[in-house]
Amino acid sequence: MGDDHMTNHTIGVTGSTGAVGGRVAARLARLGRAQRLIVRDINRAPEYPGSSAAMADYEDARGFERACRGVDTLFLVSATESRDRMEVHLSAVDAAVAAGVSRIVYLSFLRAGPASTFTFARTHFFTEAHIRSTGVAYTFLRPSLYLDLLPRWVDGDGVVRGPAGDGRVAWVARDDIADAAAAVLTGPADENATYDLTGPEALSLGATVDRLSTLTGRTVRYVPETREEALLSRKGTGAPDWEVEGWVSSYEAIAAGELDEVSTAVRKLTGHPARSIEGFLRRHPSALSHVSV
Ligand SMILES: NC(=O)c1ccc[n+]([C@@H]2O[C@H](COP(=O)([O-])OP(=O)(O)OC[C@H]3O[C@@H](n4cnc5c(N)ncnc54)[C@H](OP(=O)(O)O)[C@@H]3O)[C@@H](O)[C@H]2O)c1
Repeated sequence: MGDDHMTNHTIGVTGSTGAVGGRVAARLARLGRAQRLIVRDINRAPEYPGSSAAMADYEDARGFERACRGVDTLFLVSATESRDRMEVHLSAVDAAVAAGVSRIVYLSFLRAGPASTFTFARTHFFTEAHIRSTGVAYTFLRPSLYLDLLPRWVDGDGVVRGPAGDGRVAWVARDDIADAAAAVLTGPADENATYDLTGPEALSLGATVDRLSTLTGRTVRYVPETREEALLSRKGTGAPDWEVEGWVSSYEAIAAGELDEVSTAVRKLTGHPARSIEGFLRRHPSALSHVSV
């Protein structure tokens, strides 16, 4: 791995040991761009020609600042959900700004607001506000719910269960998010822009399961729950209350119409249409292999 500390226009990439950041790093490598992969475990950093790696987590302000020195544009992947994710993000942003990063491309969430029904989305709103307040140039990428994770919404009996009512969501593929991020990171700086990243159509959970059934030949059903039923049914997982609230509120955000949006940003940024459920299943034919019916 090369040392890029002295070169200009180095892109810092966080989250490269994960799904979205890993895809972004691979795309930047294909484009021949110099990048610094900032990872929590140096042993797991991917290796590419023109990439270097630095070890720091967002909570480690000094380490993260050191890791960001010489980075021009930072791709900041939102941290794994936790009770203190807000502070974790602010620490990373402040450290990046202190290191002299000139632009932050932040992976946010669709329609993030201070009182978003989806509780995990609120953190994104406050992180965006903090980035703005620092005066650094920014681009906010606001994806919808991940299409790649849709199979996990289906249990082994083929049931999607939750308080989503008839609300709709346009599931977005992580490949599209990564394509859009790579375009934003390497294209002309579209300063202080916000892009909503969604799939090509918004579907209710009822329509989503119908589509899954037709495409896979398995029987997938949607069973609407009340909030109380949803909280109760997830209590047995042993997850802490804030996490259960986050899961349940993602369904409630769908019901409230807060995710009912279809954006053209994927096509605008990448030049190709957003991937559909059909396209996703064609690439991942065993995505519902855990469903026994
Ligand atoms: N829109 C949606 O439907 C949806 C669904 C799930 C998650 N998300 C959010 O989107 C983010 C990216 O998604 P993904 O699929 O790429 O998740 P992922 O595969 O879990 O990857 C998360 C990446 O962020 C790194 N990371 C997490 N917390 C960190 C911290 N405190 N300091 C430094 N690095 C940290 C992880 O490092 P390690 O490998 O060391 O853990 C990993 O590389 C998630 O982190 C989450 O905030 C969105």
